[in-house]
Amino acid sequence: MPERIVSPKPRTEDVELDVSLRPRHMADYIGQEKVKENIHIAIKAAQKRGEALDHILLYGPPGLGKTTLANIIAVEMAVNIRTSSGPAVERQGDMAAILTNLKKDDILFIDEVHRLSRVVEEVLYPAMEDFALDLIIGKGPGARSLRLKLPRFTLIGATTRFAMVSPPLRDRFGAVYRLDFYNKDDIAAILKRSARILNVKAAEEGLEEIACRARGTPRVANRLLKRVRDYAEVMAKGVVTREVAIGALNKLEVDSLGLDQVDHLVLRTIIEKFDGGPVGLETIAASISEEADTIMDVYEPYLLQLGFLARTPRGRVATRLAYKHLGLEYKGGTEAPQGSLF
Ligand code: ADE
Repeated sequence: MPERIVSPKPRTEDVELDVSLRPRHMADYIGQEKVKENIHIAIKAAQKRGEALDHILLYGPPGLGKTTLANIIAVEMAVNIRTSSGPAVERQGDMAAILTNLKKDDILFIDEVHRLSRVVEEVLYPAMEDFALDLIIGKGPGARSLRLKLPRFTLIGATTRFAMVSPPLRDRFGAVYRLDFYNKDDIAAILKRSARILNVKAAEEGLEEIACRARGTPRVANRLLKRVRDYAEVMAKGVVTREVAIGALNKLEVDSLGLDQVDHLVLRTIIEKFDGGPVGLETIAASISEEADTIMDVYEPYLLQLGFLARTPRGRVATRLAYKHLGLEYKGGTEAPQGSLF
């Protein structure tokens, strides 16, 4: 599959963008009001008691600001943050090294925490519960266990797959917060802030048009803004008007709801090859030569959110709304689930 402009996963071009546009303080973080409020209260309470913050698990689709939020928590708590990720910590010794290097009150942020192996996780359990590291010295009958004290710290885990975080690990997080797709107004507000920081001249309606097509995802919104800015500079005196945004995004083949060719392919495959479903995820994956995991993590969440796709016990089903969006005649019997974004 080609790299997608609307992918919620980080792309190389995002690095510089992320650094300049990422809010550093809670006050600059737009949207996710409930999560923000709860975290704000937890921070204030921990500070009042002079304790470390409870371990926090953040989950939700990629690109919604889990890493940003972890960094903001560190700034608000005025503590250091160490960052790692599930697949990067391969052995128990790696995890032990990370833990012994922590200083008092540090935050340890582990992205993709569902990808930690079980043996590595086992090092984390006593660390999270008792701020202790259990070492086994020697081998066989003479082996002894030694408990080292660790400084108190806060683990912030992030995952796109809550169900894949093992129950013993899940249970050790004192707080679990789910990030959801942003509504259009929040994305427009994020774009307004980004346009200001990047010195992009933009009309409100221009930013709103980008917001409609940004899949409720700040990372996608900021990336589209950058591409629309390029188009505006070359084709339209540098001002992002509604017409300019529409022209640029149509050229990028991002449709009016932010769907690209791959989303269209997924929906068309279900509708045209499998009579609208139900069809198993693995079958869809094989039909479009894509990994089932990628479909589940990257394509599906937004299609589900739009109410274009429904998960049933017998597989995925394309809904009436999906047919309508693609301009196809509806033949199936499944209504869209409640709670779609638009
Ligand atoms: N950039 C990425 N996520 C953001 C958010 N929630 N608020 C402001 N800027 C952001």
